Amino acid sequence: MRILSGVQPTGTLHLGNYFGAIQQHVELQERSGRAEDAFYFVANLHTLTTLHDAGKLRALTRDVAVDYLTLGLDPNKATFFRQSDVPEVCELTWLLSCCVGKGLLERATSYKDKVARGVEPTMGLFTYPVLMAADILAYRSTIVPVGKDQQQHVEMAQDMAASFNAAFHKNVFVRPEWKFSKAPIVPGTDGAKMSKSYGNTIPIFLPDGVTDKQAYKAYFAGIKTDSKGVDEPKDPNDALMTLYRLLDLAKANEFEPVYARGGVGYGELKKRLHEAYNERFAALREKRRAIAADDAFVEGVLEQGATRARAIARDVMTEAREAAGITVARSTHG
Ligand code: TRP
Repeated sequence: MRILSGVQPTGTLHLGNYFGAIQQHVELQERSGRAEDAFYFVANLHTLTTLHDAGKLRALTRDVAVDYLTLGLDPNKATFFRQSDVPEVCELTWLLSCCVGKGLLERATSYKDKVARGVEPTMGLFTYPVLMAADILAYRSTIVPVGKDQQQHVEMAQDMAASFNAAFHKNVFVRPEWKFSKAPIVPGTDGAKMSKSYGNTIPIFLPDGVTDKQAYKAYFAGIKTDSKGVDEPKDPNDALMTLYRLLDLAKANEFEPVYARGGVGYGELKKRLHEAYNERFAALREKRRAIAADDAFVEGVLEQGATRARAIARDVMTEAREAAGITVARSTHG
């Protein structure tokens, strides 16, 4: 078994990332407790498709690593690395590119969505699913936990593995399977799915200098509701309750009957949400500061992860090159 998933450093991580992905990643590392079985990486090469700002990309890449380590990723139970520390993945992207039909990539809905939103249609954006397939196949991953929006990409990786194996009559690549998180869709402050591109996110960790009061105003007070009065019965599956259940299931279950019957206003629940959020994440703020200040630790973890990941990618690439008839001088690949 090998679980693998990547997270793009596109912006400050938010509750949607946490409940949709990070929480599950941290839980999955416990499944066997062996670092060889759970691979997670910061997909900085993918972010180049939408971000051209070296300083920002560097900072965001580091922030994601610090967030993961703060939120419980254990480098002894998982292999945690930076995508760009394994250059074999880029080479594999080329080998796969030569086996995948252009038509398959043209059907990628995420590509079409991004172009429709105004992202520049570069070759990088177009071949994004090939780079992602290389990520998955380079480490012989078998299980890929992703959100629904990435399901098609994992299916494309299955196709590419099969096309390569068929083209060269050799079973170099293992078929990966996608796996969804148990979490329901995490609603954002406007009630739609929480997503950076909708501008409706609540960050896991508050930006520096933001006070508690400001945080309440910025992220909780404005969560969209209808105009029901205090006494009216409320929808126990609305955005507020969904968030409450994610943040504190026990308290949410206790609160639900009163909410459904009527007798409490939206303001009350928003305050409870803010409290639950603080209980969950405020205690980690100090831990985050300490990790963020410890460059040697963060770099050490990523380097150790890259060494482990790279050993596997090298093996797989040796097989893939051999199958394809690509010869390399030994001395250049030591
Ligand atoms: N495309 C994924 C996302 O934006 C990130 C990613 C890159 C990934 N490579 C991956 C996820 C490999 C799973 C496996 O969410």
